[in-house]
Amino acid sequence: MGTRKRPDELRSHRWYGVDDLRAFGHRSRMLQMGFSEADFRGKPVIGIINTWSELSPCHFHFRTRAEEVKRGVWQAGGFPVELPAHPVTEQYMKPTSMLYRNMLAMETEELARSQPCDGLVLLGGCDKTPPGLVMGALSMGLPFIFVPAGPMLRGNWRGKTLGSGSDVWKYNAELRAGNITEAQWKDMETGIARSFGTCMTAGTAATMMLACEAMGLTLPGASSIPAPDANHPRMATDSGRRIVDMVWEDLTPAAMLTQGSVDNAVAATMAFGGSTNAIIHIIAMARRAGLELDLERFDTISRRVPLIANLRPNAGEALMEDFFYAGGSRAFLKRLSPHLDLTAKTVSGGTMGEDIADAEVFDDDVIRPLNRPIQAEGGLAVVKGTLAPKGAVIKTSAADPKLLTHTGPAVVFDNYADLKKRLDDPDLDVTADSVLVLRSSGPQGGPGMPEWGMMPIPQKLLKQGVRDMVRLSDARMSGTSYGTCVLHVAPESHVGGPLALVRDGDLIRLDVPNRKLDLLVDEAEMERRRAAWTPPVRRYERGWTSMYLDQVTQADEGCDLRFLEAGAPTPEPDIY
Ligand code: FES
Ligand code: MG
Repeated sequence: MGTRKRPDELRSHRWYGVDDLRAFGHRSRMLQMGFSEADFRGKPVIGIINTWSELSPCHFHFRTRAEEVKRGVWQAGGFPVELPAHPVTEQYMKPTSMLYRNMLAMETEELARSQPCDGLVLLGGCDKTPPGLVMGALSMGLPFIFVPAGPMLRGNWRGKTLGSGSDVWKYNAELRAGNITEAQWKDMETGIARSFGTCMTAGTAATMMLACEAMGLTLPGASSIPAPDANHPRMATDSGRRIVDMVWEDLTPAAMLTQGSVDNAVAATMAFGGSTNAIIHIIAMARRAGLELDLERFDTISRRVPLIANLRPNAGEALMEDFFYAGGSRAFLKRLSPHLDLTAKTVSGGTMGEDIADAEVFDDDVIRPLNRPIQAEGGLAVVKGTLAPKGAVIKTSAADPKLLTHTGPAVVFDNYADLKKRLDDPDLDVTADSVLVLRSSGPQGGPGMPEWGMMPIPQKLLKQGVRDMVRLSDARMSGTSYGTCVLHVAPESHVGGPLALVRDGDLIRLDVPNRKLDLLVDEAEMERRRAAWTPPVRRYERGWTSMYLDQVTQADEGCDLRFLEAGAPTPEPDIY
């Protein structure tokens, strides 16, 4: 690390340390809150960005976790300030939390920039909050540590272990097939979510928390600690202690992150069988750091990294609590060592290699050895072709292997309302070989790319015993979802991508081994359809959604807002 900052080099010195009219105001207003000058002057001011809310069950422990972070900051000689931020709660935000990820990123960046912060601790975990917080913090450029919310306890109902999301979809299909009763379905509400913390399947939250750790942005082992475990508050306090030193060391993201850090996040996601959402988020995070990442690189890494986490909704039955008992994220990364850049720096002040050196796996079935993987390649694949010139993604680990090479006739739904209305119609012209197609669900069409990509199986097929079929859309799907779902088709239908031109009965060919996705309609006919296509009417003319529609990039580019992507740094504020 070498040189350490002097107190008069702290960013907050401009607010508190100088002797002018404004500094008089800044100091006197701290005294107004009962702090003494000895509490804050010449100390690293640590902004604790807290996404706590009573509409965010995944972050319900953050009120006390923020206090536990503060304990560490005080001990290390820093001054903690808690800054509430948008919780971007997955369960309650409509049409989708994804519409607001970039808002949290912008809020994080500006909370830090406009106020006297020297370093940040980010409290998040629920799906969009790890990327949102990290994107903003990367753009701001101050030293920061991410404190992951951690997974909730396993679900438990009538002696069965339940997984967030995954078992909701599974038992809902059984309800619609007539195999469980309405009363049993209702009773499951009491068992599926039993503590604070994030979804405990290998969904988006678990994936993104792990990806952040693999990128070097959390303390070693932080991402898999169950939220109610006593290790969790200890990790929060350790993070508080560590961030103070990071400020003195000036360990900024620019000083820390390399291409290797980003590739480590991708490799961990692939070996974990992580959520498809991670592809969009990690691309957006990398771009904020000014590092390279595109769909091709994801696919290249996926082809060389085996899937070794045996968790739902992939092949296995285990949940995040089991993953933690099996050794957790450090043990998992240790196993993955041959596929990681071990020289990548982390917030610990050391390297990834040092962070995981003594980690051990305690259950080889949950965290598999590299020579006994769940599947030889990573869990996600990128396909391209006439139907998706800019690419689409599929979670191969949660799909029926037989369907990964499939040609079938399209059954097209123009939007989600159309799908809801017609899907269970007994007269719907659909067989198990059909390809369900949904459009108007992309970044602009949704708007915000809702998680509609795991379209339910039509009821008449469910009753025939069908539980998977090829489905294709410009939507995302929940990280807890499963099935042969081709997602993130780019460009999306709303901007006139080929998806907008598909008609009932057109043949669609999916060929995952060769990474192809094609619409088998000749170019002359496509040209005729393109000429006849009219862009959809814009529904939002004011507020955040309007700004989002003007600025959002396509799925293959990370769905960031163009003006928030890496570029010239925003200047520090003038203080007069
Ligand atoms: Fe918050 Fe799943 S709803 S992590
Ligand atoms: Mg989710």
